[in-house]
Amino acid sequence: MGRDIELKIPNEISSKSNVLGSVINRRDFIRYGFNATAGVLVATFGLIGFASILMPGGGGGGGDLAVKYWAKGREDEAWYGSKHLQEMTLSDFTSEASKSSAGMAGASGIWNGVPVNVIYVPHNENKSKALEVNVPRYQFGEGVDATGKYVGHFEDLSETDSKLIPNDGIIIAFGRCPHLCCIPGWQLVSNNFTEDSWAPGGTEEGGNKLFCICHSSRFDPTALELNTNRNRANGQTFTFAGIKRVGGPAPVGIPMIPAQINNGVIEGITDYIDWLTYCD
Ligand code: FES
Repeated sequence: MGRDIELKIPNEISSKSNVLGSVINRRDFIRYGFNATAGVLVATFGLIGFASILMPGGGGGGGDLAVKYWAKGREDEAWYGSKHLQEMTLSDFTSEASKSSAGMAGASGIWNGVPVNVIYVPHNENKSKALEVNVPRYQFGEGVDATGKYVGHFEDLSETDSKLIPNDGIIIAFGRCPHLCCIPGWQLVSNNFTEDSWAPGGTEEGGNKLFCICHSSRFDPTALELNTNRNRANGQTFTFAGIKRVGGPAPVGIPMIPAQINNGVIEGITDYIDWLTYCD
């Protein structure tokens, strides 16, 4: 057993939230996040042998493309607690979203050995309605890198590859934080950023943000942009499509994994696994 590492939640966050106290230790983090018990994933904090568990290079060939629930340690509290390692289905998410004020639903998962978060957004139902609170839809926008330099517009890439457009309302977001590579999980804590609400604009307003409990970076899974990051192994910069960082120390957003629905099962497409190379 490794030593406990205290994960401090900034006062500005802890004062307005109920985040399991203001400090989460490593044991709790693993309980609420990922661990190695299933033999698929090493836990947290940059210890992951990430390059070695990435599936072979893209093109959609081989491997099991289904995304599976990861509910380890949250069996009693997550809506998918009884579905650990079962395949995710679109109907699971739409059913859960029907109980939500914002009409959204999300879950932590695992896809070919890497952590992911899957979020359902009722885009097709809402895209023609007035843009207002709790009427979520995707927002395609421009991205700037960590230095503020313009990178491009999400549609620059989605217009050349329609697989990037989430037609079924499903976004698969890679599960490593671009700050220090923690595994955020989905809604492991309760606070303003994770509450059941939504606000337009891709800002800090509204809930349903992907919230990293290590240092409280926030990402909006409805705000899709282009951005850049760096391959950790070879140092090369790459451009990716993903969900926007709206707050916290993460320098950029989180890459998406294009999704498809196959007989109701949510699958990830392997065409862009080079976007997942910024952690060890
Ligand atoms: S690792 Fe620091 S905010 Fe996520």
